[in-house]
Parts: sequence; C-alpha cells; structure tokens
Amino acid sequence: MEKIIDENKQGNQLVLDPLKSNTKKLFIESYGCQMNFSDSEIVASILADNGYNTTTNLEDADLVLVNTCSIRDKAEQTVRKRLEKYNAVKRQSNPKMKVGVLGCMAERLKSKFLEEEKIVDLVVGPDAYKDLPNLLSEVEDGRNAVNVILSKDETYGDISPVRLQSNGVTAFVSITRGCDNMCTFCVVPFTRGRERSRDPQSILSEVNDLANKGFKEITLLGQNVDSYLWYGGGLKKDFDKASEMEQVTATNFAALLTLVAEAQPKMRVRFSTSNPQDMKMDVVKTIAKHQNICNYIHLPVQSGSTRILKEMNRQHTREEYMALIDNIRQIIPDCAISQDIITGFPTETEEDHQDTLSLMDYVKYDFGFMFKYSERPGTTASRKLKDDVSEETKKRRLQEIVDLQQKHSAFRTKQFLGKTLEVLIEKTSKKNEDEWSGRTPQNTVTVFPKENYKIGDFVLVKITDCTSATLIGEAVGYS
Ligand code: SAH
Ligand code: F3S
Repeated sequence: MEKIIDENKQGNQLVLDPLKSNTKKLFIESYGCQMNFSDSEIVASILADNGYNTTTNLEDADLVLVNTCSIRDKAEQTVRKRLEKYNAVKRQSNPKMKVGVLGCMAERLKSKFLEEEKIVDLVVGPDAYKDLPNLLSEVEDGRNAVNVILSKDETYGDISPVRLQSNGVTAFVSITRGCDNMCTFCVVPFTRGRERSRDPQSILSEVNDLANKGFKEITLLGQNVDSYLWYGGGLKKDFDKASEMEQVTATNFAALLTLVAEAQPKMRVRFSTSNPQDMKMDVVKTIAKHQNICNYIHLPVQSGSTRILKEMNRQHTREEYMALIDNIRQIIPDCAISQDIITGFPTETEEDHQDTLSLMDYVKYDFGFMFKYSERPGTTASRKLKDDVSEETKKRRLQEIVDLQQKHSAFRTKQFLGKTLEVLIEKTSKKNEDEWSGRTPQNTVTVFPKENYKIGDFVLVKITDCTSATLIGEAVGYS
C-alpha cells in the first residue's frame, strides 16, 4: 500500500492526515528534548503501520501517548498535570481511552507508574517502541503492559520517521542514542541507556531522502554527538572488543559530518549536543572545511568553576574549556557558541558562582539555556551530595546569569549590524505576518519583509537593526 502522509502541527501534538484504511485514533504529545520529539515521529510511524491515525482531539482518541522528560523535577510535574487532564477527559467524555507513557519518565518509574497514576495503562521506555503493537494488544485485552528494557543496539535506524512537526524545511536526524558520560547531576544515562551509534549508511539514506523531499537543513541529534563511533554495531564501550578490521575502518563524528556534508552540499548541516570533553579539533576543522556545515556549536559548560566541574564529573577544567573556545575561534573566527549552565549545584559557593560569571564574560556566548539545579533520584549527586544551596540563592544566581547572558547576546547581535547574512526562511514571523522568520548559519533568528520570497528559500539579508535575540533586516537577493 502506498502511504501518503501529510504533515501538520498543532501545539506540540502530532497530527497525521488520515490513512484511509486506519480506523483507530492516536493522540500523541511530547515534552523535553529534541530527541523526544524525534522519537515521537518514530512512534507515529510504527503505529501508522498498525491501524492508527492521529487526532488533536482528546475526546475521540482511542489511545493517548505522552512522551515524557525527567531532566528536572518541573518537567515531571508538567507530565503529571497532563495525566490529570487525561483522567478528567476519560471520566467525563471518553471512557474507552487508553493512556500510555513513553520516554524518560517511563524508564525511570517503570511499573511504579501504574501504581502511582491509575490512569496509565501502558509504560514504554525509549528503546522499546517497536514492541508497541504487542503491548497494545495486551492493553486491548484488558491488561496493563510495561516494556522498559534498554537495548545494546536499538537505534531505530530502519524506521523512516513520519515528519509530523515539520515546516518542510528543517528536520532532525538522530545519530546516537544513550550517554556514557555519567555527569553526576544527570538522569539521562539511566533513562536512555548506554551509548550506541547508528549505521552511517542509514543516516545517509535518511538525509538523502529528506533532500529529495525538499528539506534544506538537518540537525544531527545525540546526547553527545562528538562521541559518535560506528564500528559495525554495538555499544560504544565495547569498541575495544571489536576486531582490528572493525576498529580501523570505524567512522567517527568528523568522518560522519564529512560524509553528510559532501552527500548533500546544498543542505545546511547542524548538530547537537557537544560535550566539551569529547569535542575534538578534527570536528572543528571539518566544520571550517565545509561551507554547508553551520558555524555554530552548542557547547554546554554547566559551571565556570573547576571544583564544581569536578563534582559534576565533567572531564575538563575551566582552563581547558577556555582553551577549546580559543582554538575554535582561531579555526572558525565567526563561530557562534551557546551554553547550558546549571546554577546552585550542591556545594556551589559565591566564589564558584563568580567563576561562572567570569567564564561567561570570557566567552560572551551568543545565547544559552540556564537552569536551577534540580536533584534527580538515583544520580550520583543525589546519593553523595546534599542539595544545600537554598532556593532563594539559586533563584538569585540564576537571575544574575540570565541577565549577563542577555547582555552578551545583545553584544553578539550588534556585531551583525550592517552585515549581509544568509538566512534560510522557515516560517512567518510570530510578531508580524508580513515578515519571514529564519536563521543565519550562526543560528540567530532573523526577520525581514516577505516580498516575493518563500519558505525554504536561502536569502541574503542586510541587517539593519537588532534586539538581543533577533536580527532585523531586508532581503537583497537569493544567496
Ligand atoms: N547531553 C545533552 C542533554 C543534557 S540535558 C546535552 O548536553 O545537551 C540538557 C541540559 O539540562 C544539560 O546540559 C544541563 O544544563 C541541564 N540539566 C541536566 N540535568 C539537570 C539537573 N539535574 N538540574 C538542572 N539542570 C539539568
Ligand atoms: Fe547528561 Fe552529561 Fe550525558 S549532561 S546526557 S550525562 S553528557
């Protein structure tokens, strides 16, 4: 059967236009990281083959799936609130509705979820989505179903995701799953398992397919992309057990970037996320060498204090991070760099906090994502360290970091005034429907009058004004 799937987006829910032969209705929504949104596209694809079309209406859903995030307590609370909402709808208007929990909370809580939240019928961890059809038949027979087995080799490389969130221009392609880094604050190694990489041939065929469908930009996704290593399958940690031949012919991240960039020279290539300890200079040189790999690196630092970095089990010092920044800037002078920072990690003193502020002053990040430390059950930090920075202090330090970042973002956007930059048009600007919104290679959002340009065009835009987050300009032609 030829499948025709139209893409649509409403809020953060996924919508599939009806496949004529499918009769059951799936409501699926996602929280958390890009990987979760990408995984929901895999789930939708698996269920489209098993009789489900998506709906945005909870009232007529046969199945509700929520793809969950455990990274901070607040993310989990948001999901609990959604479960209350499903419960209310089920009681009031849709008694047939079944509810399944996917993703990191499913993996963390396992069958406890069924006890804690009576509304839940189904609990499925991030490596078990191919088992969904079996689990659903259990549920249809009136039993609860749980599969939270983490895998050594599941990468979903053979599933073609349904591009449900899509603007038709930009897409995510996942290249690794899991993480071996064991940062002491982080729940991800527990919920997503050990690190494994996807076959470069399956990555390339997904990228080529996206290009054929008219996509113009891809982001290679992983918890720790620089650690990508394909040697024929299996866990990253078992690489030393591979045969000599497999080791010699293995593909690392720099080689994968080269393969992708050269396969589709007209496509923009991005990647996320880089852990500083795993970022190698061959990756930076590969970015410099290929015009279509964007000059932008998301390089979370978490803290500017070497003592705190050690407590976090980040394998670098403040000075090593600064040296990495210097090296990046030497090889790619106009490279944009963004951060993640956690404030109020256990034992963080005022001096440690000042170290974070001064590191920010040194780098002057283009933008960043900043969080208060949230203790996660089971992590090394939760077992060994007391969450001893008061909420009030966390709040104040976070505000100082956010304010400083805003100053640096404003500094960065001002550097672009008067310049002409390439912008890939993604959508209509939220603030003005006569303007397009897109991004520069450095990932800065840019808005400009629509004229006759259209979504998916690469346009040269002369920058005439800016805020701390957005460039404002006029198109001067195609790039
Ligand atoms: N490997 C990915 C995902 C990490 S989670 C990456 O490096 O981006 C994304 C960010 O959430 C982290 O970089 C960190 O800044 C933040 N984070 C993770 N665990 C946290 C916790 N327990 N409390 C607060 N923020 C946390
Ligand atoms: Fe988490 Fe550190 Fe991995 S932040 S996802 S353990 S690189």
